[in-house]
Amino acid sequence: MSLLKVTNLGKSFGGVKAVDGISFELAKGELLALIGPNGAGKSTTFNMVNGQLKADQGSITLDGTELIGLKPREIWRLGVGRTFQIAETFASLTVVENVQMALLSHDHKLFSMWRRASDHKRDEALALLDQVGMKSQADRPCSVLAYGDVKRVELAIAMANDPKLLLMDEPTAGMAPKERNSLMALTKQLVIDRGMAVLFTEHSMDVVFAYADRMIVLARGRLIAGGKPLEIRDHPKVQEVYFGTGKTFEKKKQTEPTA
Ligand SMILES: Nc1ncnc2c1ncn2[C@@H]1O[C@H](COP(=O)(O)OP(=O)(O)OP(=O)(O)O)[C@@H](O)[C@H]1O
Ligand SMILES: [Mg+2]
Repeated sequence: MSLLKVTNLGKSFGGVKAVDGISFELAKGELLALIGPNGAGKSTTFNMVNGQLKADQGSITLDGTELIGLKPREIWRLGVGRTFQIAETFASLTVVENVQMALLSHDHKLFSMWRRASDHKRDEALALLDQVGMKSQADRPCSVLAYGDVKRVELAIAMANDPKLLLMDEPTAGMAPKERNSLMALTKQLVIDRGMAVLFTEHSMDVVFAYADRMIVLARGRLIAGGKPLEIRDHPKVQEVYFGTGKTFEKKKQTEPTA
């Protein structure tokens, strides 16, 4: 059975149908890429799944529970995690403190309690950092980390909630090709080790082909194709949408935060 089931989902902004009746499913242990040109409706779809935007129509279920109408916090508690297009950590805190805070938040504990017990959950936090290859940098402040390392810490923070589904909107934006591959290889490993599902958007076709189990293609709010990466690559509609850009879906403009 599918973990996530999206049916006839839609959202308009003024007269623009940003997402126009899309349906797709995502199984446990699957890495699904949502691709499409700028303005296709990818971030809008993500934001409906995580509850930041309310859908105008359709249904989104996680393990059979309807998510539409729930608050972002409630959806997060049900096991939907996310990482951000621009990495977000508390720069003044150390790497391990950022993860400890996330663990406490998962356990419904208050921040004030954490302040009284700074070693609380430290071992658990270190174990998560170990999984993302950041244990050796645990006691450094986040402010001094390289960008790719901040993204790894962000992944550890997302894991602290033990998500069933992780949403990653352009996880590799702003990264060098080597960093991109390393972050996606890590994500793939987490999917395998934890049986987690991942829905991600990505403009680099190299990344999609290397890591996605399956992909769906969005254009002007509609899903135009879905299948295994190699099946999609030569799909006529996909070629049409990307006509003139060759076989790379690389973004032309500067990446901007969309959420
Ligand atoms: N809050 C908003 N208010 C008005 N229009 C919006 C809003 N958010 C998105 N849109 C519009 O909805 C459409 C889809 O935008 P969306 O951000 O979902 O695209 P995207 O596929 O994520 O694009 P990108 O690849 O550039 O991130 C675009 O036409 C966009 O201008
Ligand atoms: Mg976007």
